[in-house]
Amino acid sequence: MTLKQSLTKAKLIDNVELGKDYYVSWFHIPELTKNINPGQFVMMESGQYLLRPFSVYETKGDSAGFLYRVIGGGTSFLSRLKIGNEVLIHGPLGRGFTYPQNKNKSILIVAGGIGIATFPLVARIASENGYKIKTLFGARSKNDLVCTEELKKYGEVESITDDGSSGRKGLVTELLTTELIKNKDQEVFVCGPTPMLKSVIKVCNEFGVIAQVSFEEYMACGYGVCMSCVIKTNDKYLRTCVDGPVMRSDIVAV
Ligand SMILES: Cc1cc2nc3c(=O)[nH]c(=O)nc-3n(C[C@H](O)[C@H](O)[C@H](O)COP(=O)(O)OP(=O)(O)OC[C@H]3O[C@@H](n4cnc5c(N)ncnc54)[C@H](O)[C@@H]3O)c2cc1C
Ligand code: FES
Repeated sequence: MTLKQSLTKAKLIDNVELGKDYYVSWFHIPELTKNINPGQFVMMESGQYLLRPFSVYETKGDSAGFLYRVIGGGTSFLSRLKIGNEVLIHGPLGRGFTYPQNKNKSILIVAGGIGIATFPLVARIASENGYKIKTLFGARSKNDLVCTEELKKYGEVESITDDGSSGRKGLVTELLTTELIKNKDQEVFVCGPTPMLKSVIKVCNEFGVIAQVSFEEYMACGYGVCMSCVIKTNDKYLRTCVDGPVMRSDIVAV
């Protein structure tokens, strides 16, 4: 895919506040919704800032939604857009999740923080295709447990928080360990900050489970040219924008 082919000017049609600093921005972008594979991402124009990567949260007809937390200039710009404003969106980009061939194999989603943003679309498509789904969601506090109602439409959701303000107090790896003790024959899909991903991979390695892990490394170009997004694998460095963001856990160096 060339840069030119994937560039689209998309109009903001809705901006929904999900909680303090959390929004879903919906854009009319049929070029994207026709071609998206769950787990792929886009690079989005962010005002005076560089392009920013965002997972595709959900699609509805010709519209795609992006869930984000306002943390800096780019996400702040996005949250202040008015209905009808247009931004450039490049995508879909990267490699998404692969559903198991065996439809009797359950899908276990493990999300950390804003890593949850990639999963409503993943879970809906899985559910439409007959897979059983469970989500384990770890966040800093109650306020960060966004879009759990959306995910509950497709299966059980168990959450855990760093401060114990909702669900159990602890880390999502504790929930994962309990799940894998019960049944390790599950397809594990993971997304979250890199330290959490590495902890999840270590747990999966202990159980001999190969997970599909989606990385949220810094990305400047999204097209494989700048090398800002590389991660170390067992034998070489890979670019998460084109070789991922979803990668098999057994190739990642932890
Ligand atoms: C493939 C991919 C998908 C993503 N999907 C989403 C998504 O769906 N929703 C969402 O909210 N975010 C997502 N992100 C992260 C998102 O791109 C960053 O939140 C965004 O770049 C922040 O931009 P900003 O201009 O608001 O913040 P900046 O002004 O660039 O940064 C503000 C602060 O956040 C830190 N920061 C910025 N980006 C990251 C990062 N990637 N990891 C750790 N710390 C960071 C900076 O060091 C700084 O301290 C994704 C990232 C990747 C690589
Ligand atoms: S973001 Fe530029 S090479 Fe990956």
